[in-house]
Amino acid sequence: MDAKKYYIETYGCQMNQADSELIAGLLQDVCYRPTSNPENADIILINSCSVRENADRRAIARLSQFKSLKKSKPELLLGLIGCVAQRDQGAILTDKKYVDLILGPDTYRNLPEIISQAQIPYVDVNLSRTEVYDDLVPIRSSTVNAWVSIMRGCNKFCSFCIVPYLRGRERSRSPLSIVNEIKKALKDGHKEVTLLGQNVNSYHYAEYRFPELLEAVAAIPNLRRIRFTSPHPRDVNEQMLEVMRSHPNICKQIHLPLQAGSSRILKLMNRTYDQEHYLRVVEMIRTYLPQAAITTDIIVGFPDETSDDFEQTLEVMRAVKFDTAFMFKYSPRVGTKAAEMDDNIPEEEKSRRLKVVIQLQKKHTLERNKSLVGTIQEILIDGSSKKNPAEMSGRTDTNKIVVLKEGRSQIGEFCRVKIEEAVGVSLFGKIT
Ligand code: 5AD
Ligand code: SF4
Repeated sequence: MDAKKYYIETYGCQMNQADSELIAGLLQDVCYRPTSNPENADIILINSCSVRENADRRAIARLSQFKSLKKSKPELLLGLIGCVAQRDQGAILTDKKYVDLILGPDTYRNLPEIISQAQIPYVDVNLSRTEVYDDLVPIRSSTVNAWVSIMRGCNKFCSFCIVPYLRGRERSRSPLSIVNEIKKALKDGHKEVTLLGQNVNSYHYAEYRFPELLEAVAAIPNLRRIRFTSPHPRDVNEQMLEVMRSHPNICKQIHLPLQAGSSRILKLMNRTYDQEHYLRVVEMIRTYLPQAAITTDIIVGFPDETSDDFEQTLEVMRAVKFDTAFMFKYSPRVGTKAAEMDDNIPEEEKSRRLKVVIQLQKKHTLERNKSLVGTIQEILIDGSSKKNPAEMSGRTDTNKIVVLKEGRSQIGEFCRVKIEEAVGVSLFGKIT
């Protein structure tokens, strides 16, 4: 008899990707095999994200598209999992009766029992104070990078953000289980690890805080690249930067979500820092790690954001010159504090502000990239160029994508590359 097959579609952040890899591991343990064609699957899981309106809508739309498949194949198990499942369980149960499984982010461990006993529909959205899935073995989708989740949840409660409500309170995983997972990933051939957490540098387990954990990970033999995402500006300290400086295998890139430049808006956002503090953190990073890339997240059109407030976001952008940024229009998330405020910036104005920040960021990305032209960088090859699949591409230590115009290379290989050109948001080079 053919093995049963699973199909998982993942939306949103890297935490969701890492969770999908854990789920793949659980399903393979009970003899399921992956398929890339949902029509061949015995179980379809949509791992959803609810952080912004778009991702949220796409996951629900996708679920609806599977309705007819489910009709023609009643034995198929169709599940919505992750943040939208956590938030919308009630509505899904009543409006989408064809959905079999609704599972929140802390309930995946039981998946094998759930599908074997299959009391349909099955709903579990309990949040846990302890679950970190530390003994599960993921099936990784990349052969180069390994996502390693080190903490879950968030205690910060930024006023715009739904995450603390859907992913629960912060909890960290033991350093020993993290180090063991990384050693196994290296044995399996992975070349780079990315430590993941909603607030990765709030990590705290017994006497280990984030800098101590980083140090322990950096000491793992033969580990050449360590990344982490996302840190919170409030939790960046000199000790963390010192550990980064003293270990060449910790990549010199920091994602430092700004969200807004105006201290008044930052206060309304409950970000726990103001413009001055943010710029001080950037100064500190530049002092310890002059070569580091700094990337960010920016929200435009938060309630009450005046043109003067918005101008301050542009000012901080000009002062820092981020290497890249993810930029978003504010969208109210039901249940958050900001959703109780008046969403009073008209949609056209949000779009206009978004255009302005995107324009400015493009200019900064190009400027920052151009400063690398003529230098030699170590690139870890991880795929091929989107535009021309015959050209391989990889990433610098600072996480910039470089397309190789000349020279042979293989996925997973480290190459010395001369950077020859910066165009748009891309870098081009050749193996030296
Ligand atoms: N509206 C717009 N952007 C948001 N983000 C989080 N919540 C919202 C929201 N309600 C953005 C933040 C965060 C990133 C992951 O998503 O910039 O850092
Ligand atoms: Fe959301 Fe703020 Fe927590 Fe990040 S730090 S997950 S933006 S509440």
